[in-house]
Amino acid sequence: MEGKTGLMSSPKEKPHVVCIPYPAQGHINPMLKLAKILHHKGFHITFINTEFNHKRLLKSRGPDSLNGLPSFQFKTIPDGLPPSDDVDATQDIPSLTQSISTNCIGPFKDLLAKLNPPVSCIVSDVAMSFTLEAAEELGIPEVLFWCSSACASLAYGHFSVFIEKGIIPIKDASYLTNGYLDQTLDWMPGMKNIRLRDLPSSIRTTDPDDIMVKITLQATGSSHKAAAVILNTFDELEQDFLDPLSTIYPPIYTIGPLNLLEEQVNDEDETLAVLGSNLWKEEPECLDWLDRKDPKSVVYVNFGSITVMTFEQLVEFAWGLANSQTSFLWIIRPDLVSGDSAILPPEFLEEVKERGLLVRWCPQEQVLKHKSVGGFLTHNGWNSTLESISYGVPMICWPFFADQQTNCWACRTQWGIGMEIDNNVKRDEVESLVRELMVGEKGEDMKSKSLYWKNKAGEAAKSASGSSCSNLEKLIKVLLQS
Ligand code: UDX
Repeated sequence: MEGKTGLMSSPKEKPHVVCIPYPAQGHINPMLKLAKILHHKGFHITFINTEFNHKRLLKSRGPDSLNGLPSFQFKTIPDGLPPSDDVDATQDIPSLTQSISTNCIGPFKDLLAKLNPPVSCIVSDVAMSFTLEAAEELGIPEVLFWCSSACASLAYGHFSVFIEKGIIPIKDASYLTNGYLDQTLDWMPGMKNIRLRDLPSSIRTTDPDDIMVKITLQATGSSHKAAAVILNTFDELEQDFLDPLSTIYPPIYTIGPLNLLEEQVNDEDETLAVLGSNLWKEEPECLDWLDRKDPKSVVYVNFGSITVMTFEQLVEFAWGLANSQTSFLWIIRPDLVSGDSAILPPEFLEEVKERGLLVRWCPQEQVLKHKSVGGFLTHNGWNSTLESISYGVPMICWPFFADQQTNCWACRTQWGIGMEIDNNVKRDEVESLVRELMVGEKGEDMKSKSLYWKNKAGEAAKSASGSSCSNLEKLIKVLLQS
């Protein structure tokens, strides 16, 4: 691959890759990063959002941000859900997943047929596995992008075994609280003695027809039809999981952390640097606030784009943070609290006015790499986890759903960079874990391990010599053969 100057001599000859993410923030972000990197390497890109998310992006980033470039276009398909004007809220994931799996294939095929230049390859989110059928019908090769960690992907890859063994579905809701989830599995390759509670959250369903389980089975079952699988991770971090994973899937290309590879592209190409994908409007002023804080003194709190909590849980987090006496930057999405407003008690706001900042959405990567940030209270979405690893920030983990429980397990037990908060969050535990993270002995140990992984992530992403960069070159060969 020849780098920026192009892979082909004339723009007309550029191979055309269509990138289609699952329509949620944590999937659009890594797919856009990959699309930008591929464009920088000489590909013509069409990036497909749902109409709903396109509308959200127009609102959060402005119309210019989606004009694209002559060889980087944005297109849309409907998601099949009834129209909604609530562009500040995450869509209901099971309904969205159900709708996509039945309604998107037609519009997707129509769009593919119209695109110019003709499509040479599709890079699709694995959760959009209907795309494989379209690709097969139109004779276009496809590569699948799994947005989760290798350890979570490995757990997802065992869903059919969990069903055979009677683990999915669980017998009834009492199994969620009677200690059943604390039992360990001694047969999972690469994940010995993992507790049931550390497996992806859909194992907790009581419904034999659960849509999230169904879509996981569809995705894992059809992965062998893809020319390759892409993971946003790096070899050194997840080799123990990648080894068994490579026995169940087509060739796997680990090309992460994509945020580090994207940084190199943004540095070299201003026109690509402006392309972003945040569905909420960022409040970059929080970076000025961080500038005024001491090095490593601030705990950053963010639960991603999907997590919801009760008002009681919000208040427990609030007082835990206040009582820790630590400075904090807390991102409270407009739809973070389920069925209620996220308005915090005035006594809390008065108590923390000198050392707490609350905003709705932030440029997370810039926050995580800011010198004042010393810890991250996170839900362990894979993007947040990997971004935190990339910038050497240790974590307190409050996993909510999907792959987050498994990511939390890996942070705690495999990489030594995370401590978990009980799901039934209490202010005293928040206070003591925040203190431990910021000034305790365990916190010190986690900081040094985080630094270790930050260096390893940097090495993997190093231009030319890094494992992820060289895997990217190999992936590009696959895309070109298509
Ligand atoms: C979801 C799932 O929850 C996650 O587990 C899965 O692996 C991918 O999709 P989400 O819950 O939103 O994503 O979390 P995460 O994976 O961390 O993605 C959030 C993204 O939004 C990150 O890239 C983060 O940098 C960005 N973000 C989040 C911001 O830029 N600003 C914010 O204020 C919050």
